[in-house]
Amino acid sequence: MTTAPMPEFPAGFRWGVSTSAYQIEGAVGADGRGPSIWDTFAHSPGRIADGSTGDVACDHYHRYREDVGLLAGLGVSAYRFSIAWPRVQPTGAGAATPAGLDFYERLVDELLGHGVDPVATLFHWDLPQALEDAGGWLNRDTAARFAEYADLVAARLGDRVKLWITLNEPFIHMSLGHGMGVHAPGRMLLFDAFPVAHHQLLGHGLAVSALRARSGSPVAIANNYSPVRVAGDTDADRAAGAAYDALHNRLFTDPLLGLGYPDGPGFDEGVVRAGDLDVIAAPLDVLGVNYYNPTGIRAAEPDSPLPFEIVPLEGYPRTAFDWPVAPDGLRDLLVDLRDRYGAALPPMQVTESGCAYDDVPDADGRVDDPDRIAYLDGHLHAVRAAIDEGVDVTGYFVWSLLDNWEWAEGFTKRFGLVHVDYATQRRTPKSSYAWLRDRVIKP
Ligand code: FCB
Repeated sequence: MTTAPMPEFPAGFRWGVSTSAYQIEGAVGADGRGPSIWDTFAHSPGRIADGSTGDVACDHYHRYREDVGLLAGLGVSAYRFSIAWPRVQPTGAGAATPAGLDFYERLVDELLGHGVDPVATLFHWDLPQALEDAGGWLNRDTAARFAEYADLVAARLGDRVKLWITLNEPFIHMSLGHGMGVHAPGRMLLFDAFPVAHHQLLGHGLAVSALRARSGSPVAIANNYSPVRVAGDTDADRAAGAAYDALHNRLFTDPLLGLGYPDGPGFDEGVVRAGDLDVIAAPLDVLGVNYYNPTGIRAAEPDSPLPFEIVPLEGYPRTAFDWPVAPDGLRDLLVDLRDRYGAALPPMQVTESGCAYDDVPDADGRVDDPDRIAYLDGHLHAVRAAIDEGVDVTGYFVWSLLDNWEWAEGFTKRFGLVHVDYATQRRTPKSSYAWLRDRVIKP
């Protein structure tokens, strides 16, 4: 597939790809790893679309050298992976299991040996089950446990990880995991899930200090954002749009950047304690932005438990996930974040951007994915457009290096630049991999 020439990006712009532990590693029983909430959830009947689990996934735990070879071949300067908390602390407390950290040390050293910066996310949703049994993120104590875990990781890897990301998408973990019950741990609390927001943010803030005490590397958080498109022109529709925007786009970012929580349903007495907001507002070096699509919102029906209704957006091409392909949303988002937060906003890196398509090898074993090329091309032009408007964006990570285990969708959604045959674990770079390498990273 041919695309218009890619505009140049600023010198030093970080090109990367992202993955997460439970989605690729497998080896769930290896070297003392404890169970996480995702092991429990995936093994519960009816939770995952195809009945699969992450027990084996891409077997990356055993094939990481081959996968780092794929990264090196792609030419990226950074790799964003996540560390499985239950490999480091099988029950989420106490001393580190050395063998668990050994794996990440081997991975980090392999990356550095290939000139790829390790970017480590500490929490990509795989909470140790033992902590969930004690209340999980509904329990304030989990924030303190998280900071201890961050300290253990940074004590081993603080000299080699080039960028720390504390949490991945705390909004999605709260909403899908604790509000709607479609992700682990499968709680359906609706707005009673709010303590999960505050305790994750508190854990983030405490972890920032732990990381800074052990490592000179910059610290970030990766938030999920979705620009709101109000579908309707009544005041009620606009109010619903603002309510959704506060929940999805501001609930986590306002307090991180020192503005406190946005007005809204609010927290129960005793959840937010004196001093918490200062901990949460610890200065960030980078804001990680995960973007997939905008969200259509209109006023809710009178009997709805929610103050808004999510509606499909018409007029866009769609991915295999049925998500609208809207590169303009990424440009708008980056510009809006700058306009909203001004000088409080650190430089941003797009820490996830990508799409699922039903990619299948042809008779010769090649995997052609022109839709992914078009998707990435559009989104990279959108980032460039934001930079042209003066927004400070210093990196872009494609989700994902490999096809992998997509949470509640199991193996049914393929996001990779590299196709994975799950029966044989054969990796086949798709045409998007070559396009990204030849047209974008090393033109
Ligand atoms: C994001 C998650 C990531 C992956 C992509 C498709 O919300 O952070 O793990 O599932 O969506």
